Amino acid sequence: MTDAANREDLIAALAWSIELGANECLDETFIDRTTPAPPPQKVEYAAPIPAPTDAGARDIAEGCGDLSALRDAIAAHPHPLKANARNCVFADGNPAAQIMIVGEAPGRDEDLQGLPFVGRSGQLLDRMLACIGLDRHAEDAAKAVYIANILPWRPVANRTPSVDEAQAFLPFIDRHVALIDPALVITMGNVSTKTLLATKTGIMKMRGTWTEAEIGGKTRAILPMLHPAYLLRQPVDKRHAWADLLALQARIESKP
Ligand code: URA
Repeated sequence: MTDAANREDLIAALAWSIELGANECLDETFIDRTTPAPPPQKVEYAAPIPAPTDAGARDIAEGCGDLSALRDAIAAHPHPLKANARNCVFADGNPAAQIMIVGEAPGRDEDLQGLPFVGRSGQLLDRMLACIGLDRHAEDAAKAVYIANILPWRPVANRTPSVDEAQAFLPFIDRHVALIDPALVITMGNVSTKTLLATKTGIMKMRGTWTEAEIGGKTRAILPMLHPAYLLRQPVDKRHAWADLLALQARIESKP
């Protein structure tokens, strides 16, 4: 094949991919689809990394008197996940907000930017919140949200955090909630819901129903919701997310 013909074939392949909807790069590594793929190789990173036993995490977290001390303590806390992450992802949004969203763990974009929910699922989350008049950066605390994750470090290849990993950071997110002291907490997805509500019941059963639990030293109203990353994979379930957003809006509006 001449260079020119090769170029035309490549352009045609690219145009075809874009027509199929592959219009953005989702992987960190370049995949050459023009040459036959080599036989699959064993990938080493999938297993969760056990956390070191750390009886002191709760004491450290509880000793943090403000958000800045908590951020420093989390960043300094030794954990194997740190080794493969670029940035500690602490939080985003208005700390005066009455609504705190707790997600699962940073993904690639969050790891790069050091902020939670800034990738595709974060963009969907922002659009969902905007539908009911909320904005993480609103100055008006009544319209704002504050966002953090169970894990501050990205698990390699975005694998689901293990129970050990979530438990290792539970004292920190608990203290985080105490310092923000929100009236309402949204647990976004399975990991957040199971960890903060100490339940084995999955998100599909828990979502959309207000519940109460002691988090951050107080009994708080909690609404488990479907994770936006799940909604990107299962758009048909956006109808449930919409119902849950309306439940959140009704709760906000019922407050004086
Ligand atoms: N998913 C999460 O749960 N948190 C993020 O910050 C990004 C994606």
